[in-house]
Amino acid sequence: MSNSQVKFYSGETIPLELHKTRIVQKLNLVPIERRLEALYEAGFNTFGLNTTDIFLDMLTDSGTNAMSDNQLAAMMRADDAYAGSQSFTRLHQAVKDVLNAQYFLPAHQGRAAENILACAYVRKGSLVPMNYHFTTALAHITEKGGQIVELLYPESYKIKSSHPFKGNMNLEALEAYIQKHGKERIPFIRMEASTNLIGGQPFSIENFRAVRAIANKYDMRIVLDASLLGENAYLVKQREEEFKDTPLADIIKIMTGLADVIYFSARKLSSSRGGGICTNSETIYKELEALVPLYEGFLTYGGISIREIEAMAVGLYETQDETVISQSPSFIAYLVNEAEKQGVSMVTPPGVLGAHVNAMEVCSHIPQAQYPAGALASAFFLISGVRGMERGSISNQRDEYGNETYADMELLRLAVPRRVFTLSQIMYVIDRLAWLKDNRELIGGLKFVYEPPVLRFFMGRLAPVSDWPEKLMAKFRKDFGDSL
Ligand code: F0G
Repeated sequence: MSNSQVKFYSGETIPLELHKTRIVQKLNLVPIERRLEALYEAGFNTFGLNTTDIFLDMLTDSGTNAMSDNQLAAMMRADDAYAGSQSFTRLHQAVKDVLNAQYFLPAHQGRAAENILACAYVRKGSLVPMNYHFTTALAHITEKGGQIVELLYPESYKIKSSHPFKGNMNLEALEAYIQKHGKERIPFIRMEASTNLIGGQPFSIENFRAVRAIANKYDMRIVLDASLLGENAYLVKQREEEFKDTPLADIIKIMTGLADVIYFSARKLSSSRGGGICTNSETIYKELEALVPLYEGFLTYGGISIREIEAMAVGLYETQDETVISQSPSFIAYLVNEAEKQGVSMVTPPGVLGAHVNAMEVCSHIPQAQYPAGALASAFFLISGVRGMERGSISNQRDEYGNETYADMELLRLAVPRRVFTLSQIMYVIDRLAWLKDNRELIGGLKFVYEPPVLRFFMGRLAPVSDWPEKLMAKFRKDFGDSL
């Protein structure tokens, strides 16, 4: 059962919650004057904000999906043994049952799995073709002296599109790339489920099968980043004719069955914390095994708390449940479609993880050198208390010569973690987005005042290029009076 199967008599498309709320957390909607102070304190970087000043935290779905009663119950029976823990045995069984992989190596989160894979396989001069990069995957590959290449179809770079699978690998480009550079320099092909940085866009199984065929032809390995696999599988069911009647559990297994190595952030995939790498190849397992005790912890916990291991096991089984997995994409679709109706430029079709606002259009007057997506993230927090995340040039890293590499897309990502927000909260987001779009000329650019050398978007500090935040606040007060 998924909530898209419930039709309303009114004919409206309303995503119905198929869960009830039994534990709640109080939120803080502070006055705009305090939000402005908080922005200055945070260096105009939403990572620097504290939840005491945040109303809706739409920064990420990482570690913030709502956990189920069964996950919390499982955490109570955790077996805290350093080695040979029964909790790990249960998790290993869940990996076998859900992801259909016999061997499993735990790691404390997704990027730790990326580190292990990069340590094992990436060398100076290595080339890693992928549908699209994720920030931490790129950082680990380049740190080892490797390079990445992104091979999407031109359609994927279009913000507005009706293509159901913008995360598809460009098959012709992949084959040409392998022929040009030779398979010896390519340790693996990386496929990222629900391609995060282009707006949470899925790839199809048809495409993945074709990538597998190319990998077979050249005897190469495929690494699947399965952090957002559940939602990618759900969109396969929604959008790929062949799978419309296939249970989610089977779609997930078909997808993992096409990869040689699967890794994931359990902060996303299983609504817990943790991560890991799994495979059906004993050879690959042996190549990676020794790195886990070195970087993470012993093989039966891998740096993850045992309680989280229990939650991870239950969470993995729950990714097979459409009532769990359909909630976030259906809320995102509602947000995107309603915002579009109000004239706010959004990435379409709606994807997973979050709704993505097109800062290149909303802030078309701000040059990329002044970070339109970062400016929009700051402006939106100021006028709403909603914390989103910049997914544009600030999230990019400089090239080897220190030059800016401008992002293909300047996006404000508003994450919709699984089963966290109510529909009236989503309606508030749409309302404030519409107001900001009507007052968009008041948004100004940003400049770095502190720029760390690696993953600068996390700790970087910025400042507005003028007093635009004060002017925007004044307009808010004029239009909304003493409203929060
Ligand atoms: N791969 C993908 C596709 C991700 O989205 C993430 C994290 C990772 C790997 C790394 O996993 O955080 O557990 O180390 N994405 C988060 C986000 C941070 O906000 O999109 P991690």
